[in-house]
Amino acid sequence: MQPIYEGKSKRLFATENPDELIMQFKDDATAFNAEKHAVFADKGRLNCAISNLIYGMLAKEGIPTHFVRLLDDTRVVVKKVDILMVEVIVRNVAAGSYCKRTGVAEGTAFGAPVLEFSLKSDALGDPLINDDYIRELALATPEELAFLRRSALKVNELLSAFFLKAGLRLVDFKLEFGRLATDPATIVLADEISPDGCRLWDVTTGEKMDKDRFRRDLGNFMESYAEVLKRAQHALEN
Ligand code: TMP
Ligand code: ASP
Repeated sequence: MQPIYEGKSKRLFATENPDELIMQFKDDATAFNAEKHAVFADKGRLNCAISNLIYGMLAKEGIPTHFVRLLDDTRVVVKKVDILMVEVIVRNVAAGSYCKRTGVAEGTAFGAPVLEFSLKSDALGDPLINDDYIRELALATPEELAFLRRSALKVNELLSAFFLKAGLRLVDFKLEFGRLATDPATIVLADEISPDGCRLWDVTTGEKMDKDRFRRDLGNFMESYAEVLKRAQHALEN
């Protein structure tokens, strides 16, 4: 079957239900706008498992998501959405592009979460944008933008507490949202939540347990993802 959409780490397939899609996690890893690319056996399964576990936790806490049901190790059925072309990034600790942009040392904790938006465009390299850009580009209405902010901060609270139970510090993460095909007035959390789009540091050793291992060639890339999954499963049960 041909995908209706193929991204860097996932494929989307149509289903008999026009309001639902199948999302398949691939084994591909990319970084720096796909300048760097490699395939890692089992990555799709690990990210699918981690993402589903987190989506389940968030749904239980009242966060509306695109998740419908698990199909198998690498595929989930999701509600069809129109993805908002704005990526929402939340930071608790300085890292990555924040450090590059400001010169602040990696690991500097923030007094309060730093919320940031970027334009979802690989061609443009996902540039940083602000509220006024979002208005002029008609990416979201002021009400939708307020909802994105509130949701992202709420997700940050829930995710930070959850990962802490797993012995992981949630440094930063990226969220994507979509308008439901069946009801465009309703926005839900979409895409994946995995170590591809989060920075996670071991609480005691500070060791990086996320895609920075690939970006920076730190080794033990999939071993770290497997460890994140193991710890997240344990945190869920306790
Ligand atoms: P950054 O420090 O490179 O801006 O990344 C912040 C967080 O957002 C980090 O956890 C990785 C995630 N992210 C993505 O998931 N996709 C992207 O395209 C980018 C640039 C960042
Ligand atoms: N997700 C982007 C890419 O795959 C950037 C990154 O995560 O470093 O190129």
